Amino acid sequence: PSPKILIKGGTVVNAHHHEVADVYIEDGIIIAVQPNINVSDDVRVIDATGKYVMPGGIDPHTHLEMEFMGTEAIDDFFSGQAAALSGGTTMHIDFVLPVNGSLSAGFEAYSRKAEKSCMDYGFHMAITKWDDDVARDMDIMVKERGINSFKFFMAYKGSFMINDELLLEGFKKCKSLGALAQVHAENGDGVAEGQRRMIELGIMGPEGHALSRPPLLEGEATARAIRLAAFVNTPLYVVHVMSIDALEEIAQARKSGQRVIGEPVVSGLVLDESKLWDPDFITAAKYVMSPPIRKSGHDKALQGALSSGILQLVGTDHCTFNSAQKAMGIHDFRKIPNGVNGIEERMHLVWDLMVETGQISASDFVRITSTACAQIFNIYPRKGAILTGSDADIIILNPNSSFQINAESHHSRTDTNVYEGKRGKGKIEVTISRGRIVWENGELKVEPGTGRYVPMPPFSYLFDGIDKMDSAYYSSLHAPVQRMIKTVES
Ligand code: URP
Ligand code: ZN
Ligand code: ZN
Ligand code: ZN
Repeated sequence: PSPKILIKGGTVVNAHHHEVADVYIEDGIIIAVQPNINVSDDVRVIDATGKYVMPGGIDPHTHLEMEFMGTEAIDDFFSGQAAALSGGTTMHIDFVLPVNGSLSAGFEAYSRKAEKSCMDYGFHMAITKWDDDVARDMDIMVKERGINSFKFFMAYKGSFMINDELLLEGFKKCKSLGALAQVHAENGDGVAEGQRRMIELGIMGPEGHALSRPPLLEGEATARAIRLAAFVNTPLYVVHVMSIDALEEIAQARKSGQRVIGEPVVSGLVLDESKLWDPDFITAAKYVMSPPIRKSGHDKALQGALSSGILQLVGTDHCTFNSAQKAMGIHDFRKIPNGVNGIEERMHLVWDLMVETGQISASDFVRITSTACAQIFNIYPRKGAILTGSDADIIILNPNSSFQINAESHHSRTDTNVYEGKRGKGKIEVTISRGRIVWENGELKVEPGTGRYVPMPPFSYLFDGIDKMDSAYYSSLHAPVQRMIKTVES
């Protein structure tokens, strides 16, 4: 049983409103949000005076214990989530990979992996090939398993990549189910060509990773996915937007009214590619992810797009490999397992980078780290808000305290950290996960098996009016035909 808790005197921040108020929690649910709540002696009182009380972060993009590139991501559903909680993230959405091409088998496998969870989680499903079984299984995933988003890979040629014909099939299927289509947008054929060029030039080190898959390949795939989604008239979610090239395509589409969601990840907002040229292999290899971390300048543009609303929410793509795993690519950058950490650092880094610098408000921070994710994936206001009746996933951030990041003290299982040495303003001092205080005084109190699966229903607000747009389109096609019939009659 979770304790009764009163958070007193803090500034309660939601995406659209903030006020000084108390928050009362019972049985993992927020019971009341108002000033001056009086409670009995058996209630644990936390003084939050001068601090921000905000919804726990929701990370829309993680890969815990994923089998990938000949190895397995080292943070599992317990260690990755414990790390998340210590950094103020109380829910994540992980990508289920099919097993032997079967979505159902993949869902079973991931459900087993997630049995040791210590925080709430949801699932996206990766689509890595296309056939009738996959299409049929998508129905089951949406109608019976609580999945409302599917990621299609336009890169990773030879393993996950699917072509435009299948992308169109996938988009159509998503639309018919009211599920959101997501894309990993890089031109996979272009990447393969870029890699051949590097090999010919004898560039085998981690810098070859960035050089082989430049921003224009990301821009091209983003543009193509956007236009195919427009052709099908279905909403599109672009994961890990890393470049100005991709950003400009998203901005243009949104300006024309198309429903495109763009998700930058922390590494793209904070880092630049220079580290890939470090002469020490491991130091460089830890920064290898796809799409690659870009040249300085892309980071600033992504931050600006986030503050202006062109991009809507921040993920991490947390997918960690230790030094020994990264060393698989010591003679060939193509074999370096792709992925960086971030699930633990996201909230602190985004606060410091965006709020402390005055680029966004505290309410904006809540929106891009929590509320927008809950709304897009249709679990709002159960998640993503401090409102009566919402799950008690809450953080307390002290704006006058500071954080510092290093591999020595982080909670992830990796032996390196791409944010090594970074420090900043704003410290998450308390994390409450569905009414349980799991992070306090620098101490984690987590138990495997306490996290719950959060099913995500289809047909979010993103689908509102899509059917009307379709009938308008089809009747516009019929109009000339009817004119012709009239002409013949007269
Ligand atoms: O490098 C990355 N991003 N690893 C995880 C897999 C993916 O494409 O998101
Ligand atoms: Zn205000
Ligand atoms: Zn991806
Ligand atoms: Zn990813």
